[in-house]
Amino acid sequence: MEKGQATTGTETGDRPEFPEFDPLVPDHIRDPWPILARARREQPVFWIPSLGMHCVTKYSDIKAILADSETFSNAGANVMRVPVPDDIEIPPGCPFPSVGDGLANQDGDDHFRLRRLMQPAFGRRRVASYADQIRGIADELIDEFEPNGSADLVVEFANELAMQTIAVVLGFKREDSHEFRAWTNQFLYLLSSPGMDQEEARRLWVGLIEWYKHIEALVQSRRETPADDLISDLMAAEPPEGVKPLTDSEIIANVIAFIVAGTDTTAILITQTVRRLHEEGLWQALREDRDGIEAVIEESLRLTGVVRGLNRVVTKDTELSGVRIPAGSVIYWMGSSANRDEEKFENPAKFDLQRKNTHEHVAFSGGRHFCIGAPLARLESKIGLNALLDRLPNLRVTEPEVEFHPSFITPTPKRLLIEWGA
Ligand code: HEM
Repeated sequence: MEKGQATTGTETGDRPEFPEFDPLVPDHIRDPWPILARARREQPVFWIPSLGMHCVTKYSDIKAILADSETFSNAGANVMRVPVPDDIEIPPGCPFPSVGDGLANQDGDDHFRLRRLMQPAFGRRRVASYADQIRGIADELIDEFEPNGSADLVVEFANELAMQTIAVVLGFKREDSHEFRAWTNQFLYLLSSPGMDQEEARRLWVGLIEWYKHIEALVQSRRETPADDLISDLMAAEPPEGVKPLTDSEIIANVIAFIVAGTDTTAILITQTVRRLHEEGLWQALREDRDGIEAVIEESLRLTGVVRGLNRVVTKDTELSGVRIPAGSVIYWMGSSANRDEEKFENPAKFDLQRKNTHEHVAFSGGRHFCIGAPLARLESKIGLNALLDRLPNLRVTEPEVEFHPSFITPTPKRLLIEWGA
């Protein structure tokens, strides 16, 4: 049998494999695109034994998944895989260990209610009101490293901009963002590392509860005295008749979701856009003509693969690209592969600023779970890039090969070294 052809079928569904691709192998994290192009041609839906999931790679299949949240559900797609140790008490009102209150873990009417109440806080006009604060953060970060002549863009700029921005938008103090990294990691480990030893589990749960208490204190204080921030907006959201207002526990669960979903993602986009502009020799041209900046960000979203893939739970027997997928299966849909599908995007690997259908990419997903933070991510990337273009006119990337922290969802670049002397 040829490589990449279907290898197995079972009574409960087909499990063709495509062993050439493993989303956690470093070479495949760095450059999965040629292998995924082969998968789309030869075996567009395949079983990944190490993840226990069906991987879906084609644009047309992924659009079908995103349009049908009844068959491909988010409810239960994420659970805390490390149980709470017996001697740890969960405070009343704390959403954990359930993550069910988070937008990304619901479907149907429950999800619709949350989205409806939260959407205005993320609308384009409201988000634009944070622009000056975001530019202020970007300028202060650049002030710190500009005299050095060189910097690590990931650590000194992109990560900090993303974390400090989400902190001030939500209503935290900027310096609180310094703990977001550790807390986010704790949350992700508890979500995805079953079999962790008890001591480690205890340490991480204690940390997560501390995070909860910190957010709870802020939520309490906004209940007493509202401010000009997103948490206050969520509290002020007026439900239509018959719809329950947001509870504190729901707000807390989603504040955590915003921090987890909105920091690494935006930092990756900024980092990879700078790298691509350097590679394409477009830094100076964009510096002189900023009108193209939105097209740059959109084409970069299409090509970067910020979110490589995400999960859905299949609720009834179904079929994708001829592969039978039984109810109860978990799929791993790779929007990053769909965005390079040659049946959708002509010459897909090309960074093409004249492309007519760039905006049809699925980097922010689609359908009901379309990224609620997309306007903020776009604004923040634009402000971050503009600040770099204004302040570091001769920016060059000095080590273009990027290494990543491994993840099959959002692999993050470890560093990107830049310099800007004449
Ligand atoms: C470049 C930056 C970003 C990218 C590429 C990105 C990508 C995504 C994707 C692919 C999803 C879809 C999940 C699904 O279909 O299951 C999503 C959902 C989500 N994103 Fe983003 N995101 C970014 C930035 C942000 C920011 C800045 C925030 C928050 C402040 C945010 C908050 C969320 C939330 C809460 C959801 C869940 C929405 C729902 O399920 O209804 N994201 N994002």
